[in-house]
Amino acid sequence: MRIIPILSADDIFTMKDYEVKCIRCGARYSKDDIVYTCRNCVTVGPRGEPVSGGLLDILYDYSTIDPDRIIHAKGDGVWKYRDLLPFGEAIKPITIQEGNTPLYRCDRLAKALGIVDLWVKHEGLNPSGSFKDRGMTVGVTKAVELGVKGVACASTGNTSASLAIFAAKAALPCYVLLPKGKVALGKIAQAIMHGAKVFSLRGNFDDALRVVRVLCEEEAIYLLNSVNPYRLEGQKTIAFEVTEKLGWVVPDRVILPVGNAGNISAIFKGFSELRTLGITTAMPRMTGIQAEGAQPIVRALKAGKAEITPEPKPETIASAIRIGNPVNAAKALHAIRSSGGVAESVTDEEITEAQLLLARLEGIGVEPASAASIAGLKKLVELGEIERDERVVCVTTGHLLKDPERVIQICEPSIEVDADVEVLRKMVRSPFEAMKCEPWT
Ligand code: F0G
Repeated sequence: MRIIPILSADDIFTMKDYEVKCIRCGARYSKDDIVYTCRNCVTVGPRGEPVSGGLLDILYDYSTIDPDRIIHAKGDGVWKYRDLLPFGEAIKPITIQEGNTPLYRCDRLAKALGIVDLWVKHEGLNPSGSFKDRGMTVGVTKAVELGVKGVACASTGNTSASLAIFAAKAALPCYVLLPKGKVALGKIAQAIMHGAKVFSLRGNFDDALRVVRVLCEEEAIYLLNSVNPYRLEGQKTIAFEVTEKLGWVVPDRVILPVGNAGNISAIFKGFSELRTLGITTAMPRMTGIQAEGAQPIVRALKAGKAEITPEPKPETIASAIRIGNPVNAAKALHAIRSSGGVAESVTDEEITEAQLLLARLEGIGVEPASAASIAGLKKLVELGEIERDERVVCVTTGHLLKDPERVIQICEPSIEVDADVEVLRKMVRSPFEAMKCEPWT
């Protein structure tokens, strides 16, 4: 069913032009074309199989965008930056008030890690509990504009939760493919509650993405994984919000977990656009963290390779980033290399230790994948890769309650007691270290 936009004065955007362009061969596509990767530079693999064409990017005529309008824009969240979003026609956004997440200054954590200027952008405080809402508000608004008959994604959980919500809001049928037995409970709960048709796929995330891409092509369903360039347009607003909160000055470094590699590519693009518009003059070092058992991007960077080698059996407790063949690898490698950044891997134990540290020193509850950014920061400081006086922003991508089962595994259980004040009095008088941060064993 096609939603007819109902317009109010606030919802009508200024006219602006953009184009969809292949980052590999430069082929251009119309705004009405439903295309995810370039059709022009599809190649043939060693066994004669077709190899996907280049990734697509959305490019604006920046000479027509007024930087003052960005700096003085009113409102909150993703649509505040509408001058840098791909909607030239009057359209009503499908929105659940995503974005506008807090940027916390974290002095206690900074001290524990041996640095002085640390901030955490807590994307877990988006409406669905992850940064995916930023991409989905743009992606599903585009789906409505295109008049598609349904939306779909493969997911390690958060993408499906967010898509289910936005599809419900837009009254679109929603199909999600999740790797069987590998998705955190909170995320499945969201997808089924909001009415998505959920498939539990015998295979991993990479298998699910491979299958859903073909399904979407053949059944004319709109694909909303991060290979869809409109998703990344929403996610780049993380860069705008961080820079705005810091007085339109970019931090020295941004650290975030990397799975399918869309978010690091999107945030890099956001910072690049601010520089192109002359709002800022520098770029932060984009720093990507992967789990030890799923680190194709880290390996490619450390080996100085132009392309990743997919990992057939990715494994980590950080289920959100259990991905062996990141679809946005080409964009992410460029983002990290050209910004002078770095990629590093962390173990599951390091991730858990960081999750506890962040929760107990700063009161910020995140799911394991998000804690990878803190674990990566700790490791890179210890390795001397990060200077102690750098201004660092860590992006924590998903909320603690996404993965409650992991919390139960790593934290002390509750203590069962009788309703007896004497017993309780003894217990509260016994030594209690509130800030104990024992790594999980
Ligand atoms: N952190 C969380 C909490 C995520 O859910 C994801 C990705 C990432 C980090 C990595 O972001 O893929 O842009 O590099 N989750 C996807 C999903 C894959 O299906 O929910 P990325």
